[in-house]
Formats: sequence, C-alpha cells, structure tokens
Amino acid sequence: MIALVLLLLHQPLGGVAAPVSCYNDDGGAVDWFYLYKLPRGRSHGEGLKYLFMERGSEGWTEGKGLVNDSTGALAKTLGPLYEDNELAYILYNDQPPKTQTDAKDEEVGSGHTKGVVLFDQTQGFWLVHSTPLFPPAKSKGPYSYPSSGMINGQNFLCVTYPLEHFQTIGDQLQINQPRVYDCHIPASLASSVPSLQELCRQNQRENASVSTHHSHISSANRSIALTSLAGTQFISFAKGADFQNDLYHSWVAPTLQSDLLVQFWRRTRGVLPSDCTLGWKVLDIQLVSPGQGYTYRATQDHSKWAVSPNAAAWGGAGSGSGWVCVGDINRDRAEERRGGGTVCLQDPVVWKAYRAAALRCYSCKGVVSDCGTAVREMELQGQTTGH
Ligand SMILES: *[C@@H]1O[C@H](CO)[C@@H](O)[C@H](O)[C@H]1NC(C)=O
Ligand SMILES: *[C@@H]1O[C@H](CO)[C@@H](O)[C@H](O)[C@H]1NC(C)=O
Ligand SMILES: *[C@@H]1O[C@H](CO)[C@@H](O)[C@H](O)[C@H]1NC(C)=O
Repeated sequence: MIALVLLLLHQPLGGVAAPVSCYNDDGGAVDWFYLYKLPRGRSHGEGLKYLFMERGSEGWTEGKGLVNDSTGALAKTLGPLYEDNELAYILYNDQPPKTQTDAKDEEVGSGHTKGVVLFDQTQGFWLVHSTPLFPPAKSKGPYSYPSSGMINGQNFLCVTYPLEHFQTIGDQLQINQPRVYDCHIPASLASSVPSLQELCRQNQRENASVSTHHSHISSANRSIALTSLAGTQFISFAKGADFQNDLYHSWVAPTLQSDLLVQFWRRTRGVLPSDCTLGWKVLDIQLVSPGQGYTYRATQDHSKWAVSPNAAAWGGAGSGSGWVCVGDINRDRAEERRGGGTVCLQDPVVWKAYRAAALRCYSCKGVVSDCGTAVREMELQGQTTGH
C-alpha cells in the first residue's frame, strides 16, 4: 500500500509535467506538510527561516533554506502556478497583493481567509496560510515572498488531494466568502468543480463589490472530512459571516470534544480572553516555542493554530485529544462576523510538535503560566463548582 502510494506520488503525469502536489525542500512530492515561518528575532535571523514537517517526519526539521528561496518547499509547490499551463487555480486573501488597478485594501465584507487551490485533471493541493500579500498573482510570477511577511511568524498547511475533493473544497470556500484576487478554471475542468467555477466567476463578474454568495450549501458553517491523496483524514471547518461566534470555543472544541490552546494574532482590538464556559477550555497562548532555541511572544506571531492540551489516548483513534488545527481565524470580536475556518488533523507527531510550541497560556482567571498548569487550574475550579 505504502509502496503504491509512493509510486503514485512520484509518477510524472504522462511523463511530461510533474504532478501538482505539495513538495518538500528536496523537491519530492509529499502528501502533506506543515511549515512554520519563524518571526524575526535575535536567535532566528531576519524573519525568513522556517521549520518543516511532512507526512512521515518525526517532528519539526529546519527548513533547508529561506522561505523566499526559489527552490524551497513553498516555491516548488507553487511553481506550476507561474508556468504556462492549463491548471485550475484560485488565489484568495483578505489582504491580497497590491496591483495597480486595485487600490482597495482590506475588503470588509469578505472572509478573513487566505489560501491557494491548484490542481490538474487528476490531483492538486489546498494550501491554507496566514500571510498577507501572498502569493503573487499568476501574471506577477515567478514565486516570491513579500518582505511584509518577514517580521511575524506565519503558518502554512499544504495537503495534496485527488481531483474529486476539489468540489467539496469549493463548497467550503463558498461558505468562507473569500476575496479571490486571481483565478482560472479551464473549461475542461469546470464540470468537475462547479463550486470553484462559481467562485471564480463571481470574482471576475463584479468589480470588487462584495459577493452575496449563491452556494447550494445554505448553512452559516459546515465541517467535513477531507481525505488526502495518500489517505490521511483531515477535517475542514468553514464558517461564514452569519456564524457570529468564536470559531474555536463555540464549534471546533465541542465538535472535536477537546479543550484547545489557541495561537492567533493578538495585536488587534477586541481580543477574546480565554474561555472556560460551556464545558470547554479554550485558552489563548502567550509564549510560543516551535523548536529548540526559538521562543517568542504570541504578539510576534501572525499564525492561527490550535492544539489539544493532551495527547490522544493510547491507540489514537477517535475524538477527544491529540488534535492540531491550522487556519485563518483569530480570536477577536470582529472575526466572529467574518468568514474563515481551520483544517484539523489528529496525528501523534503533528500534535507533539504543536503542543510543545504552546509554552505559556492565559488561564481563564487571566494568569499567565505553563499551558498545562493553566488548563489544570480550571479543572480544579470546575470540580468545586460542579462544572
Ligand atoms: C530573500 O530575502 C532576502 C532579504 O530580503 C534577500 O537578501 C534575498 O536575496 C532573497 N532571496 C531571494 C531568492 O529572493
Ligand atoms: C472593472 O474595473 C476595471 C478598471 O476600473 C475596468 O477596466 C473593467 O472593465 C471593470 N470590469 C467590469 C466587469 O466591470
Ligand atoms: C455549525 O456550528 C454549530 C456550533 O456553533 C454546530 O452545532 C453545528 O453543528 C454546525 N453546523 C454544521 C452544519 O456543521
């Protein structure tokens, strides 16, 4: 099985183009990767270094180069976008790269969501990330990384999917109401992905007036399982503006049946404090340390991720613990009313890597301490209040 999967991942299509896939720093196709771009800092350079973890890794490894290198994982993964070809793609970002014809900055009515979808007749990837002004539109290629994205930490989750999942991904994006700043769905692929075609059409039709999305999915939010090309099961959570609640506390925690430690951008108004009501402890992270020697405050990190405080029970499967979610929504009042979401995985290696990165948290009493202690503080209180 594994041999077959490796064969499929590495097999060039028709012997010509390399498959559209997530790639690692060695140029090898991978089923999925997590990339943690470190903030600028005394011990971590000017803000272009990153940590990398792919399916089969034992944890974070140092990126082989810098995040703006033309040969690294991100450049290799996004490379086909900038070539002359007939790939389907959607680039969306609430803070899109500036173009001359587009003076508008952030579009208030659109989702707070950032990502790339790129695929061919058989497969492709969905890259979820947190970086403003990234990546360049197809016509502005080749790959580059914006200097504005250097100072703060940023997160990327790339997953390779077979073609048949892109219609579902398009449904999730329609709920998110993304700001699409560049897209193309070739006629040959349009019938496979009507949701993405509609998203792209809306974008081309209007001149930046906010789309009232006409999805056949009428709910304000939906979670759905998405299985990667090699068979890893992720869960995508997507919410629209109508959701009007905190993504993590009101929905992700109860659905995964897990408390959550959440890293998000704190340098904004209306930050939501840690919340231990309704049976779920959702704590804000204060100090981040994704690798030995890299420690910095959450205020230097623009990433949006969440991790269960505890490992999954022995045997792993099922809900409860051991989850990691990477997405685009912060814990603040304004983003309760914005589209966006997160993509979650229950994997022991990924869990360990992100759990170790959550060093200090705000307890629900507002005390900053070790995240484990901050969670337990409320457990003790919960016993006395019968909660
Ligand atoms: C990456 O960014 C650094 C700092 O701005 C610059 O010196 C370097 O030339 C860039 N590398 C590439 C490949 O653009
Ligand atoms: C959108 O705006 C651009 C520049 O202002 C204009 O050239 C173009 O015709 C407009 N497109 C539509 C569909 O109205
Ligand atoms: C939407 O979110 C609520 C929690 O706010 C949850 O109970 C409900 O199941 C979600 N709906 C879908 C379709 O996932």
